[in-house]
Amino acid sequence: MNKYKWWKEAVVYQIYPRSFQDSNNDGIGDIPGIINKLDYIEDLGIDVIWLCPVYKSPNADNGYDISDYNRIMDEFGDLDDIKELIKKVHNRDMKLIMDLVVNHTSNQHEWFIKSKKSKINPFRDYYIWKDGKEGKFPPTNWESYFGGSSWTYDQKTKQYYLHLFAKEQPDLNWENKEVRHKIYEMMRWWLDKGIDGFRMDVINMISKDQTFPDGEEKKKGEYGDGTPYFLNGPKLYEFLKEMGEEVLFDYDIMTVGETNNFGIDNAIKFSKVNDKDLLNMIFHFELMSVDRDKDNKWIEKDIDLKEIKSIYKKWNQKLYNKGWNAVYLGNHDQPRIVSRFGDDKNYRNESAKMLATMILTMPGTPYIYQGEEIGMTNVKFDDIGKYRDIETINYYRMQNKKNKRVDEILKDIHRVSRDNARTPMQWDESFNAGFTESTPWIDINPNYKNINVKNEQNDPDSILNFYKQLIKIRKNNKTLIYGKYEPVLEDDQNVFSYFRKDSNGIYLIILNFFEKSQVIDFSSKVSCENLNLIISNYKNNEYANLLNIKIKPYESLLFKLS
Ligand code: GLC
Ligand code: CA
Repeated sequence: MNKYKWWKEAVVYQIYPRSFQDSNNDGIGDIPGIINKLDYIEDLGIDVIWLCPVYKSPNADNGYDISDYNRIMDEFGDLDDIKELIKKVHNRDMKLIMDLVVNHTSNQHEWFIKSKKSKINPFRDYYIWKDGKEGKFPPTNWESYFGGSSWTYDQKTKQYYLHLFAKEQPDLNWENKEVRHKIYEMMRWWLDKGIDGFRMDVINMISKDQTFPDGEEKKKGEYGDGTPYFLNGPKLYEFLKEMGEEVLFDYDIMTVGETNNFGIDNAIKFSKVNDKDLLNMIFHFELMSVDRDKDNKWIEKDIDLKEIKSIYKKWNQKLYNKGWNAVYLGNHDQPRIVSRFGDDKNYRNESAKMLATMILTMPGTPYIYQGEEIGMTNVKFDDIGKYRDIETINYYRMQNKKNKRVDEILKDIHRVSRDNARTPMQWDESFNAGFTESTPWIDINPNYKNINVKNEQNDPDSILNFYKQLIKIRKNNKTLIYGKYEPVLEDDQNVFSYFRKDSNGIYLIILNFFEKSQVIDFSSKVSCENLNLIISNYKNNEYANLLNIKIKPYESLLFKLS
């Protein structure tokens, strides 16, 4: 049934190196900085570190544009530093997984530099080049994820190349066997250095429909939706199966796919090939559009808790004993979770703990993004010049061109920008939050004097200490890892509640997602004699039995029933 695998019981911590810790005071976080903070990560109870890209890169998209897969970005250190990091992580019985970005490279990668030299050269076919339509239009109407066309015209060879992201990130041509085998070779090179797996960047985009059709025109704007032709494309399964056979199956590693619009059936289908582990788990994006338009992240929508509940229910029930989930709310591409799903003003402490309770009591492997464990919040820079993210800056430019008011554009950016998650880690109340002694590459969130690791360590009731307790509770109660998920109160608009059950016990989790207090009667839902409170984010909880449990603003309760 549920076979033991180390990655199922692991808690993962995501590091965005540029913003974690600067060891040499150039304003940019680096690998030695991470090494300096391993005690902190170990103390939190972490098993696996996911390191965002550290490879050589001109940083058009902060390392997601790689110019050399076998070298480290100068600002982050060198190969000896990464070897040292791997060794020290392993010495602490933790593991390290790295980002695998192989849908595209940087336009500075030597393959692309050679590819664009002429129409006939051995590297031309490493990327996706096409003639323009009617000699003057891009080959398809597909829009790039960072705005504008996903094709850029090259004067020299008079063809367009495809880039689903920035023009500095040309898409690799996975139809080319040589490209695939170079990637597999690179993966083995890293695995042989001792890393424990990969987080696979936009991995379900690698196979494109080779007829390259136009997409349906989008409601607003001049572009079409190309996603049906490059998400979960015709050869995706074939390519990943080959990656398994050529690389993954030879190692005891963990893989997590970043797969927007994948669906549960694919999650199950891709988790195993011929009984061997392929994609152990995936990041689905369904929760990422509960507060925004599915096709346009900049358009806001009210959160309906019932939608959140139904997403969890669907995934948890369908994957049960068939696949495994990755549980996350935040990462380097999303706003801070306490600002987005909680209340970062009046109930920051309570709502951050409530969200932590949810993430750490769900089926699947939980992911904590750096700073989440101290309740870091979104930032509101008042000037576009302070933003660094290519997506944010492109959005600003394009809206500005359309004459949208600057304060309105900034309002969108404050809510949605990826830079919300990229301001430096707040270590203490000293100058620049203890992140650097020089000018940081992006400003520190001005709330660092109040919100920082040192304060959290000193306060027994802090968010950080709550995370530590919860992680221990999860590890000591396997029901919270493997138990069956059973929703309760499905129609309640404010309170999210569910059971986790197996032969070892029954747990009841109650999470108030809003400020509204209410009294709930659980007595018809389950019978039990003893209600043991394991952890809550309030000190004085008001309950005596299942009959009436009074739930305070953003309260979280984890009970064991017996
Ligand atoms: C993924 C990454 C994101 C990056 C994009 C292109 O979504 O998480 O940061 O910009 O892929 O590589
Ligand atoms: Ca540095």
